[in-house]
Amino acid sequence: MSTQARIADTLKAHHDAFVQRFGKSRPAPVPAPFEPTYTVPTNIADRAFTILGAGTLGRRIALMWLTNGETVHLFDTNPQTLEAARAYIEENLEPTIARLVPNGSKGILKTFPNRAEALENSWIVVEAVPEILQLKIDLLGELDAILPSDCILATNSSSYTTSEMYEKVVHKDRLVSTHYYMPPRANAVEVMPNAYTSPELVQFLLEQIPKHGLTAYHVRIESVGLIFNRIWAAIKREALFVIAQGVAGPTEVDSLMRDVFGGSKGVFDQIDEVGLDVALGIEEHYAQVRGVQVPPEAAAVLRSYVEQGKLGQKSGEGFYKYK
Ligand SMILES: NC(=O)c1ccc[n+]([C@@H]2O[C@H](COP(=O)([O-])OP(=O)(O)OC[C@H]3O[C@@H](n4cnc5c(N)ncnc54)[C@H](O)[C@@H]3O)[C@@H](O)[C@H]2O)c1
Repeated sequence: MSTQARIADTLKAHHDAFVQRFGKSRPAPVPAPFEPTYTVPTNIADRAFTILGAGTLGRRIALMWLTNGETVHLFDTNPQTLEAARAYIEENLEPTIARLVPNGSKGILKTFPNRAEALENSWIVVEAVPEILQLKIDLLGELDAILPSDCILATNSSSYTTSEMYEKVVHKDRLVSTHYYMPPRANAVEVMPNAYTSPELVQFLLEQIPKHGLTAYHVRIESVGLIFNRIWAAIKREALFVIAQGVAGPTEVDSLMRDVFGGSKGVFDQIDEVGLDVALGIEEHYAQVRGVQVPPEAAAVLRSYVEQGKLGQKSGEGFYKYK
C-alpha cells in the first residue's frame, strides 16, 4: 500500500472512531499530499533524550530514561523547578534502577535554563509543558522547524491528540504521542501515532521503551484520552459528581474505592497527585469535544478548588492537606 493510501485509510479510521464515540459529526479529513521523509535515528547512544518541562511528569520521564546509562537533557522556563527536578531525580534514581532495570547504570542528567542548548544533539524531544493547546501548537511548530530531520518529536499531552496540535508541524511523520503516567510507580507508556506518523518510528519506540522497565502500549487508532485516561475520566467525573451532590465526601469515596478494589490510592488521592489544574484542563477539553455528554458539575468542583489555589500535592492542599 502506498503511503498516501495508508494515510487516507488511517484518517478515515480515526474519523469514524471519533464520530462513533462522540456522536458528533465533523468534516471528514482530506489527506494532504505528503512525502514521507522520516528515518529513525541510528546513533541514539551518542545523543540525548530531551524533555521540555520539568514539572510533575517531565522530571519523572527524565528519571525513567536515566536508568540505562543514557544522557538526558531537561529544560524548564522556571529555574527553581529545574532544581527541584534534579533533587527529585537524585533521590529516586538508584532505587528506581534497582527495582526496574537490574543491569542498568546511572545515566547523565544535564539541566538547562536555555532551550537551544538543551535541544542540541537530541534523538528525541518530549514536550511535558502545561496542558494548554495553543502553547503546545506553537511549541511543536517551533521545534519541528529547528530539530534535525531524524529527531523524534513527542508529546506527553493527556487529552490532546497530535492531530489537534500539528497545524504548524511540517514533518508530521516524526510527531507522536508518548503518554507516561506516574513513573516509577505506574510504568505504562501509551504510544499513539497520528495518520502521518511513520510506522517505523512507532516500532522503534515500542522497542526502546521496555529497555527502561516501562511497558509500552500501542494505541492503534487516534483516541481522545488515549486508552486509560478515556476510561479513568468516566470514573473521576462520577466521583466528583458524588461529592458535588453531597452524597459523600472525598475521604469516604476514596476509602470505599480502596475497600472494594484494593490498592492504596483512591480517586481523590490520585487527582491530588496529578494536580487539580491539570485535571480541570482535561475535563474542559473533554467537554469541548463531547459537548452535552459531559455533565458540568465535575468541572465546577475542580474549578472551585483551583480558584482557591488548591492544586493538590504540588500546592500543599487539594482534596487533602499535605505538609
Ligand atoms: N500530572 C500528571 O499526572 C500527568 C500525567 C500524564 C500526562 N500529563 C501531561 O504532561 C504535561 C505536563 O503536565 P504536568 O502535570 O507535568 O504539568 P506541570 O504544571 O507540573 O509542569 C509543567 C512544567 O512546564 C514548564 N513550562 C511552562 N512553559 C514551558 C515552556 N514553554 N517550555 C518549557 N517548560 C515550560 C512549567 O514551568 C512547569 O514546570 C501535560 O500535557 C499533561 O497533560 C500529566
